[in-house]
Amino acid sequence: MMDRQTHRPPAVIVMSDLAALARQHRLITDIAGRGLTPLVIVGPTTDLARLTAHIEDPTHPLSRIAGVRRLPSPAVDGVWASVQDWITDFDIRGVICSGEVFVDPAGALSEALGLPGPGAWAARVCRDKVMQRVVLGDHGPSWRAFAPHARDTATSDGYPCVVKPAGRMFSSGVVKVSDDAELRAALAAYEPDETILVEELVTGPEFSVEALVHHGEVVWSGVTAKITNEDSSRYFTEIGHTSPAKVPSSESDALIAANTAILKALRFGSGITHAEFRLREGQPVLMEIAARLPGDAITMLWHLATGQPIEPAIVDLALGIAPRYPQPSRRAVQRFVDHRPGRLMDVRSAAQTVSWIGDDGYWPTVTSSEADAPARCASIMVGLSRGASLGTLHDSSGRSASVVVDLPWEADPVSETRVFVDQVELTIEAEAS
Ligand SMILES: Nc1ncnc2c1ncn2[C@@H]1O[C@H](COP(=O)(O)OP(=O)(O)OP(=O)(O)O)[C@@H](O)[C@H]1O
Ligand SMILES: [Mg+2]
Repeated sequence: MMDRQTHRPPAVIVMSDLAALARQHRLITDIAGRGLTPLVIVGPTTDLARLTAHIEDPTHPLSRIAGVRRLPSPAVDGVWASVQDWITDFDIRGVICSGEVFVDPAGALSEALGLPGPGAWAARVCRDKVMQRVVLGDHGPSWRAFAPHARDTATSDGYPCVVKPAGRMFSSGVVKVSDDAELRAALAAYEPDETILVEELVTGPEFSVEALVHHGEVVWSGVTAKITNEDSSRYFTEIGHTSPAKVPSSESDALIAANTAILKALRFGSGITHAEFRLREGQPVLMEIAARLPGDAITMLWHLATGQPIEPAIVDLALGIAPRYPQPSRRAVQRFVDHRPGRLMDVRSAAQTVSWIGDDGYWPTVTSSEADAPARCASIMVGLSRGASLGTLHDSSGRSASVVVDLPWEADPVSETRVFVDQVELTIEAEAS
């Protein structure tokens, strides 16, 4: 009798959504390039017909995907039910989570299959902001959580404070409030089943720390400076990232030390993490930690800064291989451009072609520059479609175009990036009222 076990093709399961697959298409091509079968799970935000069209287009990087399942929710039991035949038909060698919603089931699945991964516990804590505050209390701000049935009792010890839902992403629902009345108004805007955090407002510049962790050991860390629209609004929408941050090494060392201590406290196993901190009087205060790839163009920034794409290192970690990822020799910046309200009709620039990443289903494949090459605009991307409505930024989904610039180590990231931001022309039409 034929031994089924030995004839199963080796495969890697990637849990994601179309937006993240479009960005991280190198994960798919890298997996396929190793002779492994890329199998993909996506959630309800993915338009399956669109993803299928990309997979069927042989010129598209996502065409290497060998199987795809779309699930209505990321519930652990549903995910497991949907992969049961993959687990029998394939020799699953790795599980990768690229996107926030599948962090919990991906962590549980890799653990159940005996594969490298964050660990079910670490994944679960990372997915839930209340659990993070409980487990990592010493690292974060003071906080109170209010379950749905107790929302009427929500108060704050002081103002201004920050109110946010426990399980969302894209800074959605995160808002600064100045008094009781604003707190009540903010609470009324959440879904009835959401648990809400009310937190001390932490001031100071914000950073993310990306880490590659191999069997509990941090093998690479990078510090990215983050800017939001908090200076001009009550919101905290990300509008820029600089990798690596141009800060004294004492600051980046403090951030990396805090992040490493947090990963230890979580007993984090293997994978990439993305944590956000503010530096308050030089002390890192944890905003949140995610057990997945960073969002926006941060992986592209590290590619441009180090000269190497990071996706192969992430596939290595999923397969239990210690990755080699270099230290940066340049700096790279993503900056979103400002817009006025209206309908976005076109985006142009003399500096670069504009990629409409939502329509293309893939991000431009950038290549890195020599370390001492002058600043250049590597990419201009628009996540929205032509005709999208632009308004005030409440969360990441409202942003229009962004530029990605890479520059020599000594150059000033702000002024070098400004040159390219200023060259972007948005054509915006007034909306019919
Ligand atoms: N207690 C706080 N004090 C100061 N700023 C805060 C606080 N909590 C959240 N923020 C700001 O709001 C941002 C978004 O909060 P958080 O990261 O919890 O939400 P999110 O939806 O996961 O965001 P994203 O997906 O954009 O990372 C933080 O990065 C930070 O700028
Ligand atoms: Mg965040």
